[in-house]
Amino acid sequence: MTTPLVEMRQIDKRFGAVQALRGVDLTLQPGEVLGLVGDNAAGKSTLMKILSGALQPDGGQILFRGEPVRFASPAEARRRGIEMVYQDFALCDNLDVARNVFLGRWPLRAWGIVDRAAMQRAAEAMLRRLRIDIPAVTLRVRALSGGRRQSVAIARALSFDPAVLILDEPTANLSPGATQEVLRVVAGLRAHGVGVIFISHRLQEVFEIGDRVTVLKQGRHVATCRVRDATEEEVLELIVTGGRPGAGAGAPPPAG
Ligand SMILES: Nc1ncnc2c1ncn2[C@@H]1O[C@H](COP(=O)(O)OP(=O)(O)OP(=O)(O)O)[C@@H](O)[C@H]1O
Ligand SMILES: [Mg+2]
Repeated sequence: MTTPLVEMRQIDKRFGAVQALRGVDLTLQPGEVLGLVGDNAAGKSTLMKILSGALQPDGGQILFRGEPVRFASPAEARRRGIEMVYQDFALCDNLDVARNVFLGRWPLRAWGIVDRAAMQRAAEAMLRRLRIDIPAVTLRVRALSGGRRQSVAIARALSFDPAVLILDEPTANLSPGATQEVLRVVAGLRAHGVGVIFISHRLQEVFEIGDRVTVLKQGRHVATCRVRDATEEEVLELIVTGGRPGAGAGAPPPAG
């Protein structure tokens, strides 16, 4: 068996009175798309913010390529090759596509002048590689549709050449057409050997592009299964019941 790209073991996280994560395990294999699903407040974003260094766990361990790691900041996670595109991804609306892709790292010529031509060429190459269809990298991001903005956010994350890309609900608020565009980009990342963790509320999408799916409920790991071995109905059942037979949507939360 190959060493997992990422292994999160027994991760705990508390915010004041809220126990957001309790002993959660997650593994990501190289070149796979892992769906991460669960109801609101299941802990999906919190778990991924821990992996990307934005939050520190209270307990548990993270292994990256088999080696224990600790990320005190997103910059440290980035140095190891872990990138996250947040739910409310931060693009600068009034800057063009190329400047957004290379935000904070604009290439300079002599006397500190931004090398626009170099930046545009690099941005075009990146979009081509991802088969992202944007008419011109000189367009302001403000002028783009939701799907294309999401694609620019993904291109920006990939410009750091990560081994792991985390996407937090990349298709929320997108039209069906824009959603397909983003799913196609994400599915294409496999060919580049990038491991993707894809948070979604839409199981259909996870079944369309995922290799495996991990289910969380109320801060606990419920199950991880191969997409091709399961049905959407089965995974939905796990999301709703937390894998406890007889527990329905209206059941009280577990004690403790
Ligand atoms: N910074 C924070 N401060 C306090 N509580 C937080 C914070 N971040 C998350 N929480 C709480 O932790 C729990 C898990 O939240 P999280 O955002 O990880 O859930 P989620 O699965 O991503 O939900 P959603 O599907 O709504 O995005 C929730 O009860 C939430 O209110
Ligand atoms: Mg979330």
